Amino acid sequence: MSAPSGIRVPSDKEILRLHEKHAPTSEAFGLVYPHCEIVCAVAEQLQERAGSGIDIELARAGALLHDIGVYRLYDEAGRLDHDNYVRHGVLGHELLAGEGFPEPLCRFASCHTGVGLSAGDVIGQGLPLPPGDYLAETDEEALVMYADKFHSKTSPPRFLTADAYAARVRRFGEDKARAFGELRRRFGEPDLAALRAAYGHQVAE
Ligand SMILES: [Fe+2]
Repeated sequence: MSAPSGIRVPSDKEILRLHEKHAPTSEAFGLVYPHCEIVCAVAEQLQERAGSGIDIELARAGALLHDIGVYRLYDEAGRLDHDNYVRHGVLGHELLAGEGFPEPLCRFASCHTGVGLSAGDVIGQGLPLPPGDYLAETDEEALVMYADKFHSKTSPPRFLTADAYAARVRRFGEDKARAFGELRRRFGEPDLAALRAAYGHQVAE
């Protein structure tokens, strides 16, 4: 399918196959894929409300693909490398580029962490990433990055309210809190009730 932006967007089925191909274990798939589905549903819901010129086909594919790099952080024994978790975005970008996806799709993986990582964050926090900006630039990238903040792949997985995420992000600095506040004003807050019922995940306190 070709999105209004002109980018060829993979179908949901193609994306599911890609997850199945790269997930090292069924546990990893069970953690990552439902999360991506939830982020996609949140993005759709927010887009309906925010309207504007968002290319929802592109954003949906971006949401379904954004965390595919997490699969690259599992070792042979099926353990997730939590210490390098921040690398999952760039690993996803590499994975998608290797699968032949164009840059605008690969960027959903590398540019969704937190409310965006700047070159200053990478250097200042000593993050294990190639120096550079990993910031959402397009409306679609911003929507997926924001939608991702409402669900967390903890054990067990949890939904997060905007207030809960706002409290968490403050630990990373006032500039991050401000950036989240701007996204919140821009896209509004999702109604998580139907998703909670569908997935059975609780809301984090
Ligand atoms: Fe995510």
